[in-house]
Amino acid sequence: MMNGTRLLVKVGGAAVEEPAGRARLAAAVAAARAAGHEVVLVHGGGNQIRALTRRLGLAERYHQGLRVTDAETADVALMVLGGLVNRTLVAALVAAGVPAVGLTGADGATFAARKHAPGLDLGYVGEVASASASVVTLLLGAGIVPVLATVAPLAPGEDAPADRFYNLNADTCAGPLAAAFGADALLFLSDVPGVLDAAGRRMPALSPRECADLRAAGVIAGGMIPKVEAALAALEAAPGIVVKIAHADAEDAILAALAPDAGTAFAQPSATGARAVPSARRTGGSRPPRS
Ligand SMILES: Nc1ncnc2c1ncn2[C@@H]1O[C@H](COP(=O)(O)OP(=O)(O)OP(=O)(O)O)[C@@H](O)[C@H]1O
Ligand SMILES: [Mg+2]
Repeated sequence: MMNGTRLLVKVGGAAVEEPAGRARLAAAVAAARAAGHEVVLVHGGGNQIRALTRRLGLAERYHQGLRVTDAETADVALMVLGGLVNRTLVAALVAAGVPAVGLTGADGATFAARKHAPGLDLGYVGEVASASASVVTLLLGAGIVPVLATVAPLAPGEDAPADRFYNLNADTCAGPLAAAFGADALLFLSDVPGVLDAAGRRMPALSPRECADLRAAGVIAGGMIPKVEAALAALEAAPGIVVKIAHADAEDAILAALAPDAGTAFAQPSATGARAVPSARRTGGSRPPRS
């Protein structure tokens, strides 16, 4: 099942931050490609941004508990995500024999941003205004793994200076990009085996309703909130796509995450109210040509 599919894999935590984690991730990408899958990576890296911000002695500001990204911090985010984190991941892939190319949102306009404006000014924090698959598709056609850092300039027409980069939440970038390049599956690989219930047990499958209940109960918290929201948004943006949250921490993590019983799968309730079974194959529509 699921040979020769297009996979968008969002990675965070140790798989991005630690050398051993990156080596395992690179092996997992190599194994997925060997099984015939095309792979695109999107990565986070908020911890490394914070680390350099502190080393540089830049002030950290918060507004109603939310982190504010001022112009200097936005520059650090571009340098750290688009430079250090992205190219370190690319190097780990290349070292594992996987041809890979690093990109930011600016490259090929893969992502364009709009200012995130939740009723308060958080500075250079953005949302995805648009995602373009043109360069990603070109690279996949050439057998190359695109590796995306989620920093992006504003979309044309946005009412703000066009020469600055906005920091985007990597989880929320994954769905729009998956839809743009016609991904069959979107995997959020992290330091946890999936969404855990109040007793710490992995939930094999979740509906939007169950997600809302778990969040209201405070069981889904912290970094899991944007991840689950992004997973549900991806189902809406690309109906039929397989969406899962699973563990990154194995040399076969990607193939393992695709197994039916692995991780937490997200499913839209069907029109009849029954839960739709995630399907690996898209039945129609908008997939761009493979090369
Ligand atoms: N119900 C839950 N199940 C599992 N993890 C949860 C839950 N609620 C909160 N979390 C937290 O969410 C974390 C995962 O989100 P986090 O943002 O830290 O990782 P990431 O998105 O992979 O990394 P990055 O943000 O750097 O890209 C887990 O490590 C855990 O601490
Ligand atoms: Mg996160």
